[in-house]
Amino acid sequence: MDHFLYRDGELHAEGVAIADIAATVGTPFYVYSTATLTRHYRLFTEALSPLPHLVCFAIKSLSNVAVLKVLGDLGAGMDVVSGGEYMRARAAGVPGDRIVFSGVGKTKPEMRLALEGGIRQFNVESEPELRALSEVCVSMGVRAPITIRVNPDVDAKTHEKIATGKKENKFGIPIDRASAVYAEAAALPGLQVIGIDVHIGSQLTDLAPFEAAYLKVADLTHRLRAEGHTITRLDLGGGLGIPYERSNEAPPLPLDYGALIKRTVGDLGCEIEIEPGRLISGNAGLLVASVIYVKNGEDRDFLILDAAMNDLIRPAMYGAHHDIVPVVEPAAGAAQQPFDVVGPVCETGDTFAKARHLTAQQPGDLVAFRSAGAYGAVMASEYNTRPLIPEILVKDDHFAVIRARPTFDEILGRDTIPYWL
Ligand code: LLP
Repeated sequence: MDHFLYRDGELHAEGVAIADIAATVGTPFYVYSTATLTRHYRLFTEALSPLPHLVCFAIKSLSNVAVLKVLGDLGAGMDVVSGGEYMRARAAGVPGDRIVFSGVGKTKPEMRLALEGGIRQFNVESEPELRALSEVCVSMGVRAPITIRVNPDVDAKTHEKIATGKKENKFGIPIDRASAVYAEAAALPGLQVIGIDVHIGSQLTDLAPFEAAYLKVADLTHRLRAEGHTITRLDLGGGLGIPYERSNEAPPLPLDYGALIKRTVGDLGCEIEIEPGRLISGNAGLLVASVIYVKNGEDRDFLILDAAMNDLIRPAMYGAHHDIVPVVEPAAGAAQQPFDVVGPVCETGDTFAKARHLTAQQPGDLVAFRSAGAYGAVMASEYNTRPLIPEILVKDDHFAVIRARPTFDEILGRDTIPYWL
Protein backbone atom coordinates (compact mmCIF):
# COMPACT_ATOMS: atom_id res chain seq x y z
CA MET A 1 0.00 0.00 0.00
CA ASP A 2 1.19 3.54 -0.66
CA HIS A 3 -0.12 7.03 -0.02
CA PHE A 4 -0.66 8.14 -3.63
CA LEU A 5 -4.42 8.16 -4.06
CA TYR A 6 -7.05 10.07 -6.00
CA ARG A 7 -8.97 12.55 -3.89
CA ASP A 8 -11.73 14.66 -5.39
CA GLY A 9 -10.67 13.47 -8.83
CA GLU A 10 -6.99 14.43 -8.50
CA LEU A 11 -3.94 12.34 -7.67
CA HIS A 12 -2.45 13.28 -4.30
CA ALA A 13 0.74 12.43 -2.46
CA GLU A 14 -0.60 12.11 1.09
CA GLY A 15 -2.49 15.41 1.52
CA VAL A 16 -0.79 17.29 -1.32
CA ALA A 17 -2.22 17.55 -4.84
CA ILE A 18 0.38 16.46 -7.40
CA ALA A 19 -0.82 19.30 -9.64
CA ASP A 20 0.11 21.83 -6.92
CA ILE A 21 3.67 20.50 -6.80
CA ALA A 22 3.85 20.62 -10.61
CA ALA A 23 2.67 24.22 -10.61
CA THR A 24 5.41 25.14 -8.11
CA VAL A 25 8.45 23.23 -9.37
CA GLY A 26 7.56 22.40 -12.97
CA THR A 27 7.81 18.93 -14.51
CA PRO A 28 9.30 16.40 -14.57
CA PHE A 29 9.99 15.65 -10.88
CA TYR A 30 10.16 12.82 -8.37
CA VAL A 31 7.91 12.93 -5.33
CA TYR A 32 8.26 10.73 -2.24
CA SER A 33 5.83 10.01 0.57
CA THR A 34 7.11 10.07 4.16
CA ALA A 35 4.16 7.96 5.35
CA THR A 36 4.90 5.25 2.79
CA LEU A 37 8.62 5.15 3.59
CA THR A 38 7.77 4.92 7.29
CA ARG A 39 5.17 2.21 6.81
CA HIS A 40 7.44 0.04 4.69
CA TYR A 41 10.35 0.33 7.12
CA ARG A 42 8.06 -0.63 10.00
CA LEU A 43 6.71 -3.65 8.11
CA PHE A 44 10.22 -5.08 8.22
CA THR A 45 10.93 -4.27 11.87
CA GLU A 46 7.57 -5.80 12.82
CA ALA A 47 8.24 -8.86 10.66
CA LEU A 48 11.59 -9.52 12.34
CA SER A 49 10.55 -8.83 15.93
CA PRO A 50 11.26 -10.20 18.49
CA LEU A 51 14.56 -11.34 16.95
CA PRO A 52 17.41 -8.93 17.65
CA HIS A 53 17.76 -7.18 14.30
CA LEU A 54 18.68 -4.10 12.31
CA VAL A 55 16.95 -3.11 9.07
CA CYS A 56 19.68 -1.47 6.97
CA PHE A 57 18.12 0.53 4.14
CA ALA A 58 19.96 -0.07 0.83
CA ILE A 59 20.87 3.51 0.01
CA LYS A 60 21.57 2.63 -3.59
CA SER A 61 17.82 2.47 -4.23
CA LEU A 62 17.09 6.05 -3.15
CA SER A 63 19.86 8.14 -1.70
CA ASN A 64 18.52 11.62 -1.09
CA VAL A 65 19.76 12.73 2.33
CA ALA A 66 16.28 13.88 3.39
CA VAL A 67 14.87 10.41 2.70
CA LEU A 68 17.75 8.84 4.61
CA LYS A 69 16.97 11.14 7.51
CA VAL A 70 13.33 10.03 7.57
CA LEU A 71 14.47 6.41 7.89
CA GLY A 72 17.50 7.10 10.08
CA ASP A 73 15.33 8.99 12.57
CA LEU A 74 13.12 5.91 12.85
CA GLY A 75 16.18 3.91 13.87
CA ALA A 76 17.07 2.35 10.52
CA GLY A 77 20.57 1.27 9.71
CA MET A 78 22.03 1.91 6.26
CA ASP A 79 23.67 -0.37 3.70
CA VAL A 80 26.23 1.59 1.67
CA VAL A 81 28.31 0.53 -1.33
CA SER A 82 30.59 3.52 -1.85
CA GLY A 83 32.35 6.30 0.00
CA GLY A 84 29.73 8.67 -1.39
CA GLU A 85 26.86 6.65 0.06
CA TYR A 86 28.71 6.47 3.37
CA MET A 87 28.93 10.28 3.37
CA ARG A 88 25.20 10.51 2.62
CA ALA A 89 24.34 8.25 5.56
CA ARG A 90 26.48 10.35 7.88
CA ALA A 91 25.03 13.59 6.47
CA ALA A 92 21.59 12.23 7.37
CA GLY A 93 22.76 11.84 10.97
CA VAL A 94 23.02 8.05 10.96
CA PRO A 95 25.73 6.95 13.40
CA GLY A 96 28.58 4.80 12.08
CA ASP A 97 27.54 1.85 14.22
CA ARG A 98 24.36 1.57 12.14
CA ILE A 99 26.15 1.59 8.75
CA VAL A 100 27.23 -1.57 6.93
CA PHE A 101 29.58 -1.34 3.96
CA SER A 102 28.86 -3.75 1.07
CA GLY A 103 30.20 -3.97 -2.48
CA VAL A 104 32.76 -5.93 -4.52
CA GLY A 105 35.22 -3.13 -5.18
CA LYS A 106 35.81 -1.10 -2.04
CA THR A 107 38.95 1.00 -2.39
CA LYS A 108 41.42 1.65 0.41
CA PRO A 109 40.43 5.35 0.63
CA GLU A 110 36.80 4.24 1.03
CA MET A 111 37.79 1.79 3.76
CA ARG A 112 39.73 4.53 5.55
CA LEU A 113 36.83 6.96 5.28
CA ALA A 114 34.47 4.47 6.93
CA LEU A 115 36.94 3.45 9.62
CA GLU A 116 37.59 7.07 10.52
CA GLY A 117 33.89 7.94 10.64
CA GLY A 118 32.77 4.73 12.34
CA ILE A 119 31.34 1.57 10.84
CA ARG A 120 29.20 -1.31 12.03
CA GLN A 121 30.82 -3.87 9.74
CA PHE A 122 32.35 -4.41 6.34
CA ASN A 123 30.77 -7.13 4.20
CA VAL A 124 33.89 -8.43 2.48
CA GLU A 125 33.51 -10.05 -0.92
CA SER A 126 36.93 -11.54 -1.81
CA GLU A 127 40.29 -12.62 -0.46
CA PRO A 128 42.18 -9.64 -1.98
CA GLU A 129 39.66 -7.36 -0.27
CA LEU A 130 40.28 -9.12 3.08
CA ARG A 131 44.00 -8.44 2.76
CA ALA A 132 43.53 -4.84 1.65
CA LEU A 133 41.16 -4.11 4.54
CA SER A 134 43.50 -5.72 7.05
CA GLU A 135 46.39 -3.60 5.76
CA VAL A 136 44.37 -0.41 6.08
CA CYS A 137 43.30 -1.36 9.62
CA VAL A 138 46.85 -2.18 10.71
CA SER A 139 48.08 1.15 9.32
CA MET A 140 45.39 2.91 11.36
CA GLY A 141 45.87 0.79 14.48
CA VAL A 142 42.28 -0.50 14.46
CA ARG A 143 40.43 -3.76 13.90
CA ALA A 144 37.43 -3.87 11.60
CA PRO A 145 34.39 -6.05 12.31
CA ILE A 146 33.66 -8.07 9.19
CA THR A 147 31.31 -10.57 7.68
CA ILE A 148 32.21 -12.40 4.50
CA ARG A 149 29.68 -12.45 1.70
CA VAL A 150 29.11 -15.98 0.54
CA ASN A 151 27.72 -16.84 -2.84
CA PRO A 152 25.28 -19.72 -2.22
CA ASP A 153 24.82 -20.59 -5.91
CA VAL A 154 21.07 -20.14 -5.76
CA ASP A 155 18.98 -19.01 -8.71
CA ALA A 156 17.04 -15.94 -7.58
CA LYS A 157 14.68 -16.24 -10.57
CA THR A 158 14.84 -12.55 -11.34
CA HIS A 159 16.11 -10.40 -14.23
CA GLU A 160 19.60 -11.59 -15.19
CA LYS A 161 21.10 -8.13 -14.67
CA ILE A 162 20.07 -8.06 -11.02
CA ALA A 163 20.64 -11.70 -9.99
CA THR A 164 23.73 -11.96 -7.80
CA GLY A 165 23.67 -15.34 -6.08
CA LYS A 166 24.78 -17.71 -8.84
CA LYS A 167 28.35 -18.91 -9.03
CA GLU A 168 28.90 -17.14 -12.37
CA ASN A 169 28.10 -13.76 -10.76
CA LYS A 170 30.92 -11.51 -9.53
CA PHE A 171 29.60 -11.38 -5.96
CA GLY A 172 30.86 -13.02 -2.78
CA ILE A 173 33.04 -16.08 -2.30
CA PRO A 174 31.81 -19.55 -3.30
CA ILE A 175 30.11 -21.04 -0.25
CA ASP A 176 32.12 -24.27 -0.50
CA ARG A 177 35.34 -22.28 -0.11
CA ALA A 178 34.08 -20.53 3.02
CA SER A 179 36.15 -22.60 5.49
CA ALA A 180 39.43 -21.64 3.82
CA VAL A 181 38.52 -17.99 3.43
CA TYR A 182 37.26 -17.63 7.01
CA ALA A 183 40.48 -19.25 8.26
CA GLU A 184 42.51 -16.69 6.32
CA ALA A 185 40.37 -13.83 7.62
CA ALA A 186 40.72 -15.00 11.23
CA ALA A 187 44.51 -15.01 10.84
CA LEU A 188 44.71 -11.44 9.50
CA PRO A 189 45.68 -8.93 12.18
CA GLY A 190 43.32 -6.09 11.22
CA LEU A 191 40.09 -8.04 11.10
CA GLN A 192 37.54 -9.31 13.56
CA VAL A 193 35.26 -11.94 12.02
CA ILE A 194 31.74 -11.58 13.39
CA GLY A 195 29.36 -13.09 10.89
CA ILE A 196 28.14 -14.12 7.46
CA ASP A 197 26.62 -12.04 4.66
CA VAL A 198 24.50 -13.15 1.72
CA HIS A 199 22.49 -11.32 -0.96
CA ILE A 200 21.14 -13.27 -3.91
CA GLY A 201 19.48 -10.64 -6.07
CA SER A 202 16.84 -7.98 -6.40
CA GLN A 203 13.12 -7.93 -7.25
CA LEU A 204 12.54 -11.49 -6.03
CA THR A 205 8.88 -12.36 -6.27
CA ASP A 206 9.14 -15.85 -4.80
CA LEU A 207 10.40 -16.77 -1.32
CA ALA A 208 11.86 -20.15 -2.33
CA PRO A 209 15.30 -18.82 -3.40
CA PHE A 210 15.61 -16.92 -0.09
CA GLU A 211 14.78 -20.12 1.75
CA ALA A 212 17.39 -22.12 -0.16
CA ALA A 213 20.05 -19.48 0.50
CA TYR A 214 19.24 -18.99 4.19
CA LEU A 215 19.26 -22.76 4.85
CA LYS A 216 22.77 -22.84 3.40
CA VAL A 217 23.74 -19.93 5.66
CA ALA A 218 22.36 -21.79 8.70
CA ASP A 219 24.45 -24.82 7.78
CA LEU A 220 27.50 -22.69 7.30
CA THR A 221 26.99 -21.03 10.67
CA HIS A 222 27.21 -24.43 12.39
CA ARG A 223 30.23 -25.41 10.33
CA LEU A 224 32.16 -22.19 10.97
CA ARG A 225 31.38 -22.31 14.69
CA ALA A 226 32.69 -25.87 14.80
CA GLU A 227 35.85 -24.56 13.16
CA GLY A 228 36.29 -22.08 15.99
CA HIS A 229 34.83 -18.86 14.53
CA THR A 230 32.54 -16.58 16.45
CA ILE A 231 29.43 -16.00 14.35
CA THR A 232 27.08 -13.56 16.05
CA ARG A 233 25.60 -11.67 13.13
CA LEU A 234 23.90 -12.70 9.88
CA ASP A 235 23.36 -10.14 7.15
CA LEU A 236 20.70 -11.63 4.88
CA GLY A 237 20.79 -8.95 2.16
CA GLY A 238 17.87 -7.29 0.42
CA GLY A 239 15.88 -8.22 -2.63
CA LEU A 240 12.22 -8.62 -1.72
CA GLY A 241 10.22 -7.60 -4.81
CA ILE A 242 7.33 -5.18 -5.20
CA PRO A 243 4.25 -5.24 -7.43
CA TYR A 244 5.11 -3.08 -10.45
CA GLU A 245 2.02 -4.12 -12.37
CA ARG A 246 -0.63 -3.79 -9.73
CA SER A 247 -3.37 -5.41 -11.72
CA ASN A 248 -1.66 -8.82 -11.80
CA GLU A 249 1.27 -9.08 -9.38
CA ALA A 250 1.23 -10.01 -5.71
CA PRO A 251 4.76 -10.65 -4.44
CA PRO A 252 5.28 -12.04 -0.93
CA LEU A 253 4.81 -9.71 2.01
CA PRO A 254 7.50 -8.66 4.49
CA LEU A 255 5.59 -10.59 7.18
CA ASP A 256 6.00 -13.86 5.23
CA TYR A 257 9.62 -13.02 4.58
CA GLY A 258 10.16 -12.40 8.31
CA ALA A 259 8.53 -15.75 9.14
CA LEU A 260 10.88 -17.43 6.67
CA ILE A 261 13.90 -15.81 8.34
CA LYS A 262 12.73 -16.95 11.76
CA ARG A 263 12.17 -20.47 10.46
CA THR A 264 15.55 -20.79 8.71
CA VAL A 265 18.03 -18.87 10.87
CA GLY A 266 16.00 -17.66 13.85
CA ASP A 267 17.33 -20.19 16.35
CA LEU A 268 21.04 -19.59 15.81
CA GLY A 269 21.28 -16.88 18.46
CA CYS A 270 22.50 -14.36 15.89
CA GLU A 271 21.59 -10.75 15.41
CA ILE A 272 19.85 -10.47 12.03
CA GLU A 273 20.48 -7.70 9.52
CA ILE A 274 18.58 -7.23 6.29
CA GLU A 275 19.28 -4.73 3.51
CA PRO A 276 15.99 -3.93 1.78
CA GLY A 277 16.00 -1.09 -0.73
CA ARG A 278 13.23 -1.40 -3.27
CA LEU A 279 10.51 -2.59 -0.90
CA ILE A 280 10.99 0.47 1.29
CA SER A 281 11.51 3.11 -1.40
CA GLY A 282 9.93 1.74 -4.60
CA ASN A 283 6.28 2.40 -4.00
CA ALA A 284 7.11 5.47 -1.92
CA GLY A 285 7.89 7.48 -5.06
CA LEU A 286 6.29 8.72 -8.28
CA LEU A 287 7.86 10.26 -11.34
CA VAL A 288 5.55 13.01 -12.57
CA ALA A 289 5.77 14.23 -16.16
CA SER A 290 3.82 16.40 -18.60
CA VAL A 291 2.60 15.44 -22.03
CA ILE A 292 4.45 17.56 -24.61
CA TYR A 293 2.81 16.20 -27.75
CA VAL A 294 0.40 13.53 -28.84
CA LYS A 295 1.81 12.38 -32.14
CA ASN A 296 -0.28 10.26 -34.48
CA GLY A 297 2.12 7.87 -36.21
CA GLU A 298 1.30 5.60 -39.12
CA ASP A 299 0.29 2.58 -37.11
CA ARG A 300 0.35 3.88 -33.55
CA ASP A 301 0.01 6.98 -31.41
CA PHE A 302 2.94 8.30 -29.41
CA LEU A 303 2.58 10.07 -26.10
CA ILE A 304 5.68 12.25 -25.96
CA LEU A 305 6.50 13.25 -22.37
CA ASP A 306 8.96 15.72 -20.90
CA ALA A 307 10.51 12.87 -18.84
CA ALA A 308 12.94 10.55 -20.58
CA MET A 309 15.18 7.53 -20.16
CA ASN A 310 17.80 9.73 -18.50
CA ASP A 311 15.31 10.41 -15.66
CA LEU A 312 14.01 6.82 -15.30
CA ILE A 313 16.16 4.26 -17.04
CA ARG A 314 14.53 1.06 -15.79
CA PRO A 315 12.26 0.47 -18.82
CA ALA A 316 15.14 1.01 -21.28
CA MET A 317 17.66 -0.96 -19.22
CA TYR A 318 15.66 -3.91 -17.93
CA GLY A 319 12.48 -3.77 -19.99
CA ALA A 320 10.83 -2.90 -16.68
CA HIS A 321 7.13 -2.12 -16.38
CA HIS A 322 5.93 0.96 -14.49
CA ASP A 323 2.22 1.66 -14.19
CA ILE A 324 1.42 5.07 -15.70
CA VAL A 325 -1.64 6.94 -14.44
CA PRO A 326 -3.15 10.30 -15.34
CA VAL A 327 -2.98 12.87 -12.55
CA VAL A 328 -6.59 13.88 -13.20
CA GLU A 329 -8.69 10.83 -12.41
CA PRO A 330 -10.37 9.49 -15.54
CA ALA A 331 -14.14 9.21 -15.42
CA ALA A 332 -15.31 5.71 -14.58
CA GLY A 333 -15.51 3.66 -17.78
CA ALA A 334 -13.78 6.36 -19.89
CA ALA A 335 -12.51 4.95 -23.20
CA GLN A 336 -8.84 4.00 -23.37
CA GLN A 337 -6.53 3.74 -26.35
CA PRO A 338 -3.04 2.31 -26.80
CA PHE A 339 -0.08 4.70 -26.75
CA ASP A 340 3.63 4.19 -27.09
CA VAL A 341 4.83 6.33 -24.19
CA VAL A 342 8.19 7.91 -25.01
CA GLY A 343 10.56 10.68 -23.98
CA PRO A 344 12.37 13.35 -26.00
CA VAL A 345 15.82 11.69 -25.99
CA CYS A 346 17.24 10.94 -29.41
CA GLU A 347 17.16 7.18 -29.40
CA THR A 348 14.47 4.59 -29.87
CA GLY A 349 15.39 3.04 -26.52
CA ASP A 350 13.84 6.09 -24.91
CA THR A 351 10.53 4.25 -24.69
CA PHE A 352 8.74 3.84 -21.36
CA ALA A 353 5.94 1.60 -22.56
CA LYS A 354 4.50 0.19 -25.77
CA ALA A 355 0.78 0.00 -26.54
CA ARG A 356 -0.06 1.16 -23.02
CA HIS A 357 -3.78 1.72 -22.62
CA LEU A 358 -4.58 5.18 -21.34
CA THR A 359 -7.45 7.60 -21.62
CA ALA A 360 -7.18 10.42 -24.18
CA GLN A 361 -4.35 12.83 -23.38
CA GLN A 362 -3.71 16.46 -24.33
CA PRO A 363 -0.49 18.48 -24.33
CA GLY A 364 0.05 19.80 -20.81
CA ASP A 365 -1.72 16.90 -19.10
CA LEU A 366 0.17 15.40 -16.16
CA VAL A 367 0.92 11.69 -15.82
CA ALA A 368 2.60 9.79 -13.01
CA PHE A 369 4.82 6.71 -13.15
CA ARG A 370 4.18 4.53 -10.14
CA SER A 371 6.79 2.54 -8.22
CA ALA A 372 9.49 4.99 -9.26
CA GLY A 373 11.01 5.67 -5.83
CA ALA A 374 13.61 2.90 -6.10
CA TYR A 375 16.36 3.00 -8.73
CA GLY A 376 14.76 6.07 -10.30
CA ALA A 377 16.47 9.32 -9.30
CA VAL A 378 19.63 7.47 -8.26
CA MET A 379 20.17 6.08 -11.76
CA ALA A 380 19.39 9.35 -13.54
CA SER A 381 21.93 11.08 -15.77
CA GLU A 382 22.18 14.32 -17.69
CA TYR A 383 22.19 12.58 -21.07
CA ASN A 384 21.21 15.06 -23.81
CA THR A 385 22.14 17.75 -21.24
CA ARG A 386 18.80 17.34 -19.62
CA PRO A 387 19.10 18.68 -16.06
CA LEU A 388 18.63 16.15 -13.23
CA ILE A 389 15.05 16.56 -12.13
CA PRO A 390 13.96 17.82 -8.72
CA GLU A 391 13.07 15.55 -5.82
CA ILE A 392 10.17 16.47 -3.55
CA LEU A 393 9.33 15.04 -0.14
CA VAL A 394 5.76 15.12 1.10
CA LYS A 395 4.63 14.79 4.71
CA ASP A 396 0.91 15.08 5.42
CA ASP A 397 -0.14 18.27 3.64
CA HIS A 398 3.35 19.76 3.33
CA PHE A 399 5.93 19.38 0.64
CA ALA A 400 9.55 20.46 0.31
CA VAL A 401 12.06 20.44 -2.51
CA ILE A 402 14.79 18.09 -1.29
CA ARG A 403 16.90 18.44 -4.41
CA ALA A 404 16.49 21.40 -6.71
CA ARG A 405 16.69 21.31 -10.48
CA PRO A 406 20.13 22.60 -11.46
CA THR A 407 20.35 25.65 -13.70
CA PHE A 408 22.09 25.50 -17.06
CA ASP A 409 24.79 27.73 -15.57
CA GLU A 410 25.43 25.14 -12.85
CA ILE A 411 25.58 22.35 -15.40
CA LEU A 412 27.87 24.18 -17.81
CA GLY A 413 29.96 25.50 -14.92
CA ARG A 414 31.23 21.99 -14.24
CA ASP A 415 32.99 21.88 -17.63
CA THR A 416 36.32 23.65 -17.97
CA ILE A 417 38.14 24.70 -21.12
CA PRO A 418 41.84 23.69 -21.00
CA TYR A 419 44.46 26.46 -21.24
CA TRP A 420 45.43 25.61 -24.83
CA LEU A 421 41.98 26.26 -26.26
N1 LLP B 1 22.14 -5.42 -0.68
C1 LLP B 1 22.98 -5.59 -1.71
C2 LLP B 1 24.31 -6.13 -1.45
C3 LLP B 1 22.57 -5.26 -3.02
O1 LLP B 1 23.42 -5.44 -4.03
C4 LLP B 1 21.27 -4.74 -3.25
C5 LLP B 1 20.83 -4.36 -4.58
C6 LLP B 1 20.43 -4.57 -2.13
C7 LLP B 1 20.89 -4.93 -0.87
C8 LLP B 1 19.04 -4.02 -2.25
O2 LLP B 1 18.22 -4.81 -3.02
P1 LLP B 1 16.66 -4.46 -3.11
O3 LLP B 1 16.05 -4.73 -1.75
O4 LLP B 1 16.52 -3.02 -3.49
O5 LLP B 1 16.14 -5.37 -4.15
N2 LLP B 1 18.91 -1.10 -10.56
C9 LLP B 1 18.17 -2.34 -10.46
C10 LLP B 1 18.35 -2.99 -9.09
C11 LLP B 1 19.77 -3.23 -8.70
C12 LLP B 1 19.93 -3.87 -7.35
C13 LLP B 1 21.35 -3.91 -6.94
N3 LLP B 1 21.58 -4.43 -5.62
C14 LLP B 1 16.70 -2.08 -10.78
O6 LLP B 1 16.36 -0.95 -11.10
O7 LLP B 1 15.89 -3.00 -10.74
